[in-house]
Amino acid sequence: MKVAIVGATGLVGNVMLKVLEERNFPLDELLLVASERSVGKKITFKGKDISVISIPTAIEAKPDIALFSAGGSTSLEWAPKFAEVGTTVIDNSSAWRMDDTKKLVVPEINAKELTKTDKIIANPNCSTIQMVMALAPLHKNYKIKRIVVSTYQSVSGTGVKAVEQMENEISGKKGDMAYPYPIHKNAIPHCDVFEDNGYTKEEMKLVNETQKILNDRTIAVTATAVRIPTAGGHSESINVEFQNDFDIAEVRQLLNATDGITIQDNLETNSYPMPMYANGKDDVFVGRLRRDGSQPNTLNMWVVSDNLRKGAATNTVQIAEFLIDNALV
Ligand SMILES: NC(=O)c1ccc[n+]([C@@H]2O[C@H](COP(=O)([O-])OP(=O)(O)OC[C@H]3O[C@@H](n4cnc5c(N)ncnc54)[C@H](OP(=O)(O)O)[C@@H]3O)[C@@H](O)[C@H]2O)c1
Repeated sequence: MKVAIVGATGLVGNVMLKVLEERNFPLDELLLVASERSVGKKITFKGKDISVISIPTAIEAKPDIALFSAGGSTSLEWAPKFAEVGTTVIDNSSAWRMDDTKKLVVPEINAKELTKTDKIIANPNCSTIQMVMALAPLHKNYKIKRIVVSTYQSVSGTGVKAVEQMENEISGKKGDMAYPYPIHKNAIPHCDVFEDNGYTKEEMKLVNETQKILNDRTIAVTATAVRIPTAGGHSESINVEFQNDFDIAEVRQLLNATDGITIQDNLETNSYPMPMYANGKDDVFVGRLRRDGSQPNTLNMWVVSDNLRKGAATNTVQIAEFLIDNALV
């Protein structure tokens, strides 16, 4: 298996390398790809130095799989060119997610939809992945009517430049700004750009991607996405109204039985999910499960996950593993 990581010098690319190594992904050759700025730079994988190459050089090498995390415009331009030489692209940007001809995949939920003809596969947005992971098993049983979600998103969700902004602010250094305001000691209700409807693009991803992954356009979703000064791990307060009534003990059982979910919910021991502890782990952590007393059939939950892991790199690698295990590549 010849695999390329496009965006290997970035935050997500770096975690992809870790995840491939940890999972002992079946690799014959690994191509590390970034912008022209980084060509020739050395990155260590399994104790061996690998030189970063350019995208055209990687296409010439015709990899079986290309894991993309290099932004939307790079993906729009280059993913089809990889696909033309027979490479299957799994893309982390928002470029293809809402394209009706492309699958938007969280392996635990809908990998079974994939076929050999899917040459560009979209990885959902980080905040969407953790939300649908926690909601998919409940949707099957109780059918979701409406979701009200507020996110508390870490700076690593924005990329290298934002992590540097926060580190500079903490140490009192001047530097480039990834956000329009300081993030240290702040909360910025502005993730990604604003759209004409007053919502941000990040908020609309939570609406549109959730409907696509759960394959149900009737689910109503309203979102507020907020950037907070945490280094890694997104948190979400989710209020979900179902068509059918539920039993909290059964909700716990359903979530417990779902691969990739860990319940942390014991009030006596102050056990609940937090980004500091989810950081570096692959699971989606769920807690603060409680009935919303203000209206029928409604549940409150608190969901935390590492945005660079299950929100990006781990999900991408899981898709690649599914393709290999099912001879789709
Ligand atoms: N951070 C997250 O939690 C997260 C979660 C889900 C999805 N994503 C998505 O994943 C992508 C990368 O995010 P990130 O956080 O890793 O960003 P990042 O740290 O800023 O890294 C960006 C990567 O893209 C490469 N790149 C930029 N322009 C390129 C070009 N023209 N040609 C080839 N490579 C190019 C960069 O290479 P150089 O080093 O050479 O510039 C770098 O390797 C984005 O689309 C983002 O939306 C991020």
